[in-house]
Amino acid sequence: MDTKVLSSGIRYSNLPESYVRPESERPRLSEVSECEDVPVIDLGCEDRTHIIQQICRACMQYGFFQVINHGVSKETVEKMLQVAHDFFELPLEEKLKLYSDDPSKTMRLSTSFNVNKEKVHNWRDYLRLHCHPLHKYVPEWPSNPPPFKLPSSKRIFGIIIFLSASAYFFFPSSIVVIHRFRKGLFMVDIVSNYCVEVRELGYRLQELISESLGLEKDYIKNVLGEQGQHMAVNYYPPCPEPELTYGLPGHTDPNALTILLQDLQVAGLQVLKDGKWLAVNPQPDAFVINIGDQLQALSNGRYKSVWHRAVVNANKERMSVASFLCPFDRALISPAKPLTEDGCGAVYRDFTYAEYYSKFWSRNLDQEHCLELFKN
Ligand code: OGA
Ligand code: NI
Repeated sequence: MDTKVLSSGIRYSNLPESYVRPESERPRLSEVSECEDVPVIDLGCEDRTHIIQQICRACMQYGFFQVINHGVSKETVEKMLQVAHDFFELPLEEKLKLYSDDPSKTMRLSTSFNVNKEKVHNWRDYLRLHCHPLHKYVPEWPSNPPPFKLPSSKRIFGIIIFLSASAYFFFPSSIVVIHRFRKGLFMVDIVSNYCVEVRELGYRLQELISESLGLEKDYIKNVLGEQGQHMAVNYYPPCPEPELTYGLPGHTDPNALTILLQDLQVAGLQVLKDGKWLAVNPQPDAFVINIGDQLQALSNGRYKSVWHRAVVNANKERMSVASFLCPFDRALISPAKPLTEDGCGAVYRDFTYAEYYSKFWSRNLDQEHCLELFKN
């Protein structure tokens, strides 16, 4: 392969060797059935107790659920998906300026999962951003299209319109540049807004999850401290031989809570339930919520950090936007005391999130559950 990323405009007719999984590890797509009773929880419901009960059941049985009436505006979601598409349509040389395979970088375009650690690659590119606090990270967000990283655009917007109109009057061909420039301004607002609204939703869910475990409403929030927020904008190009590889192989998310926005047009997310892979088809106006490893530990294993994977398809590109809420680095994660008092004690030892995270990235994605390494 002659480029570092898949989103290079090249359409492959065969799957390159380095993406081909051994026979026993392939997705066996024909054996996957649809997940028919995906828990869909209406957060707009007035009966809070009912919501909490639904969350409890979903987290114990699946480790994932979907939410509707979640408070993130439709406009914010649609614009975020559009920006994500626009980003991957940038010229290859622009994207390559952002390329890195160093997981410690807080902003990077990368491919597969952990290219230096894994034996077989995955059919995915991704833009990874840190999103909280915004004022710290927005300055390092992609600067192409040029004003991607301008802070607040509203005031500047009027000036841009004026300058654009003047430039267009004198140099009509400048319209392409102007269009790019304005699009960039929108981008930073769009992505920032999205991050803020999704964070709100995350906090709300953490309260409901705390209560569903019989803990104080603020329990999870207090343990996780000032939470980090990361975003992976995932791009899965059409794949010449989808039976032989993955977009992302089966894994659990290492963080606390994942809020996933799926492309409505193209399915690809699958979750493991009772030893079977089930397809989670996109549902309008919904987010998929995954319990991550940290909540599995904190709940003393009561709630499952769900195994999930992304499969690819031959004809269509697919996108997803994953937002990860993470404990702050020095947060001490341990099973909540009240949940260890049923005779079985603490299933996991105490650890800091920093310790967990570095262990996670030192491994291959589809190895055993990273939490296994933290068992008592
Ligand atoms: C992830 C993830 C699933 C998807 O980014 O961790 O699981 O459908 N993504 O893209
Ligand atoms: Ni994941």
